[in-house]
Amino acid sequence: MDTRPPTPDIRGSRSGTRAWRHPAVRDSSLFRRPGPGDPPRPIRVPPMARRKQIYEGKAKILFEGPEPGTLVQYFKDDATAFNNKKHGTITGKGVLNNRISEYLMTRLNEIGVPTHFVRRLNMREQLVREVEIIPIEVVIRNVAAGSLSTKFGIPEGTQLPRSIVEYYYKNDELNDPMVSEEHITAFGWASVQELDEILSLSLRINDYLSGLFLGVQLRLVDFKLEFGRFYHEDEDVQIILADEISPDNCRLWDMTSGEKLDKDRFRRDLGGVAEAYQEVARRLGILPEGGPRDIPGPRTMQ
Ligand SMILES: Nc1ncnc2c1ncn2[C@@H]1O[C@H](COP(=O)(O)OP(=O)(O)OP(=O)(O)O)[C@@H](O)[C@H]1O
Ligand SMILES: [Mg+2]
Repeated sequence: MDTRPPTPDIRGSRSGTRAWRHPAVRDSSLFRRPGPGDPPRPIRVPPMARRKQIYEGKAKILFEGPEPGTLVQYFKDDATAFNNKKHGTITGKGVLNNRISEYLMTRLNEIGVPTHFVRRLNMREQLVREVEIIPIEVVIRNVAAGSLSTKFGIPEGTQLPRSIVEYYYKNDELNDPMVSEEHITAFGWASVQELDEILSLSLRINDYLSGLFLGVQLRLVDFKLEFGRFYHEDEDVQIILADEISPDNCRLWDMTSGEKLDKDRFRRDLGGVAEAYQEVARRLGILPEGGPRDIPGPRTMQ
């Protein structure tokens, strides 16, 4: 069923035999383990017109980065919901998500959570470390909402007795089915050690982000994370946080009014979608100065 090579041990090949190597692995200063307080790296980024597109998703485009093992993430204004059944555009979303994800990943890096984020390049693009994405969406819930409320008949807004972590298999054709740890390890999507690491990082991220959002009067109801394998120069493999953290994949409610300030405004046709994303950025103190200036979309090389 699974034709991919065996999942490498999380500590890398020095302790065992790893038969393959990620093609992106070459010598580069970027392959040092990312640490807190790292200074910006002097990487020259070629002009947009010369970038090679490697993947277009629903919310982002990935381009080849300036060095092997790096990617440029371009944030689009496109929005989808209900597994692609609903489509729309949220003007300025890409600009805001680029900033919000930069901000949150930088804060996480500072407390020692390894992430793919290297630096923001411009209004819509950020430089990231390329990883081998683990095909699991990790959902962390603090308050009942969305599919949890529907599935178990728990009214939205009910505080959960403790944080609940769920896993979904990233597969659009199968509708991203919910899976257990057993499925993940039995089908080889991640090893037991990797899953341990993913769970402990997710809980740490949840604690930290819950506090951070509380500080700006926002309730972190639930959110989705993606992790990947980052191959170091010395062949060490490290699980790091990838993708993005933004109102596209977090539920954020105002602490007092309960107003929704996230993608549910789009899913449920509540209106004021762009304004909600702006409000989150404003509260975090990161609204781009001078208002919603923007850069034109990328010209791509296929
Ligand atoms: N550092 C990274 N290295 C490699 N791939 C990444 C990295 N960060 C995110 N990705 C992947 O890039 C894609 C981002 O695009 P987008 O979020 O638009 O995808 P999507 O439409 O949600 O599709 P998917 O179902 O694949 O997540 C995702 O597939 C995500 O898993
Ligand atoms: Mg995505």
